[in-house]
Amino acid sequence: MSLLERQRPSLNERTSASGQARMLSGTIVIVAALSGAPWAMAASQAQVPNGGNPYSASFVGDEACNACHQEKVHSFHETAHARTSRAPSSESIHGKFEDGSNVLKTVNPNLVFVMEGNEKGFYQTAHMRTSAIEELSRSERIDVVVGSGRKGQSYLFWDGDQLFQLPVSYWTELDSWVNSPGFIDGSADFERPIVPRCLECHASSFENLAPPENRYNPASLVLGVSCEKCHGPGSEHVARFQSKSPPKSPVDFAIVNPRRLSRARQLDVCAQCHQGAGESITPSLSFVPGDDLRHFIAFQKSEAKARVDVHARQVPLLERSRCFQSSTTLTCTTCHDVHLPQRDAASFAPRCLACHKVEGCRAFPKLGHDIDTRCIDCHMPLQETGKIVSSVDGKVIRPMVRSHQIAIYPESP
Ligand code: HEC
Ligand code: HEC
Ligand code: HEC
Ligand code: HEC
Ligand code: HEC
Ligand code: HEC
Ligand code: HEC
Repeated sequence: MSLLERQRPSLNERTSASGQARMLSGTIVIVAALSGAPWAMAASQAQVPNGGNPYSASFVGDEACNACHQEKVHSFHETAHARTSRAPSSESIHGKFEDGSNVLKTVNPNLVFVMEGNEKGFYQTAHMRTSAIEELSRSERIDVVVGSGRKGQSYLFWDGDQLFQLPVSYWTELDSWVNSPGFIDGSADFERPIVPRCLECHASSFENLAPPENRYNPASLVLGVSCEKCHGPGSEHVARFQSKSPPKSPVDFAIVNPRRLSRARQLDVCAQCHQGAGESITPSLSFVPGDDLRHFIAFQKSEAKARVDVHARQVPLLERSRCFQSSTTLTCTTCHDVHLPQRDAASFAPRCLACHKVEGCRAFPKLGHDIDTRCIDCHMPLQETGKIVSSVDGKVIRPMVRSHQIAIYPESP
């Protein structure tokens, strides 16, 4: 009887008792504790997805814009949008692989995760001790890095042409590995599918081969948010400007400039990814800038008083602000230039002062010009989100997200 057959029943008894049968079933790899590198036995057939694959005939990719908009392409590639998903490398992965920093202990004393890099790639391995001399382990390679690292990163792996989330994420504030958001501490779950909506927000293009929902053509995945997510397909624009008689008037530019859209359609460009997940009512990636998003994704209407979670919900929050309701021009680009990295909250105060006077703030009589650059601190405070909750060392962690409901907050300092 092989080691595998002998061990599996006893393991299943164990794990089902603790509710983990589902998580470690499937392609489990069982090794004796002393048998060496477990990842060698769990070789994944997936290829590292390449980032340069054109989406469809009419999309050309960021490199094509570089020839004429070099400055924009360069600065944009420094932003969180461009970096929100990347191929794995020691630069793109912010978690550490050195001894002493590469182990995540869990609340289950028999389960640890070890993060290792070698010439084949970067791996997460779950080691589950099942007896004094034996352990169960499963190892998967990091194939896609999700998150610029502003708050943290999650990691995905290919199992054939199916895409899954790995159980260990990285948390920037703690500079450490943590249990992935929504995963149960103390379990080794390698079965969480990556649905198309996740990639619609965190990548640019993919070919979905559902069912099952998380089946894709790996080579079709275009990582990062690209220029054309906000400007629409660019092939005709490029062809016209490369021709002998380039267009003179914007009506012939054959590209979407969101500035020329109505406010509602401008907001829709951002709302693809900043209005929450919603329910897709058309195939993925059907929306093109300029379209009315309501025909593509159904968003739940929230009660006027209900608290809206701050994670990825900037559009509905801004829409609740009196600034938005009482003006006709306020949009995302009143404050943001998405082609540049912008992080300094104080630098946004002049945007408020385009419509308000410092003296108009009712805290002014008390605090005077101390408030000049601090509008954001009090009127767009950082708030905890309940949507991306992870845990480490048995403690729950929730990131702070900037509220986009510009308002008077009773708790403001
Ligand atoms: C062959 C040169 C060339 C290429 C390649 C090119 N553009 Fe342009 N683009 C221009 C010129 C010239 C203008 C008009 C002047 C300006 O606004 O900079 C323009 C204007 C624009 C505008 C403003 C349109 C408007 O209505 O105001 C956008 C947006 C734009 N380009 C996006 C892109 C994107 C995205 C890509 C890559 C998919 C791209 N361009 C590739 C030459 C090019
Ligand atoms: C509706 C669009 C949307 C969906 C769906 C979505 N996200 Fe996000 N995600 C965002 C936005 C926007 C942010 C930026 C922070 C915020 O607004 O809370 C973000 C932040 C993150 C971050 C932190 C990034 C950083 O660098 O700080 C990670 C990691 C992440 N998402 C992973 C995922 C994964 C994995 C999925 C799918 C399983 C997913 N997200 C689904 C829009 C989305
Ligand atoms: C997240 C959405 C988004 C992405 C991604 C994006 N843009 Fe823009 N772009 C905009 C918006 C919005 C405007 C209009 C800005 C305004 O209203 O002033 C704009 C305007 C422009 C213009 C018109 C000139 C100007 O400065 O206003 C050009 C050219 C342009 N973008 C090129 C690019 C290129 C090239 C890329 C990729 C490197 C890119 N954009 C990526 C949203 C985006
Ligand atoms: C295709 C999806 C997508 C679209 C379209 C999109 N965003 Fe985002 N945006 C994201 C994701 C995902 C993040 C989180 C990136 C991260 O940190 O990993 C993000 C982050 C941001 C940030 C934070 C940047 C930082 O430095 O941390 C700003 C600001 C922002 N988006 C504004 C906009 C605006 C304004 C628009 C419309 C003009 C827009 N976005 C359109 C997906 C999108
Ligand atoms: C496009 C113009 C515009 C911009 C930009 C703008 N506001 Fe307003 N804001 C308004 C208008 C208009 C009102 C409503 C005034 C009224 O009804 O008397 C308002 C109302 C407010 C209120 C009262 C809110 C309430 O619920 O009673 C606060 C506080 C406020 N703004 C702060 C800010 C801050 C801080 C910024 C920058 C982050 C800002 N505004 C940016 C136009 C703007
Ligand atoms: C009145 C000014 C203002 C407007 C309008 C505005 N933002 Fe922001 N936004 C800010 C400020 C200030 C920050 C904090 C700066 C930072 O930390 O990057 C911010 C941060 C963000 C972030 C990062 C949030 C986080 O905590 O990680 C995202 C995403 C974002 N904005 C998206 C949007 C979108 C989408 C819109 C349009 C619906 C929008 N913003 C409109 C001022 C504004
Ligand atoms: C230290 C916190 C703080 C800072 C900083 C601050 N505010 Fe306020 N602001 C408040 C509070 C609190 C109120 C409401 C006071 C009340 O109702 O008694 C208020 C009220 C307002 C109002 C509503 C006035 C009205 O009559 O309804 C506006 C507009 C406003 N602030 C704009 C600004 C602008 C613009 C800035 C930046 C220059 C700013 N605030 C900075 C705390 C602050």
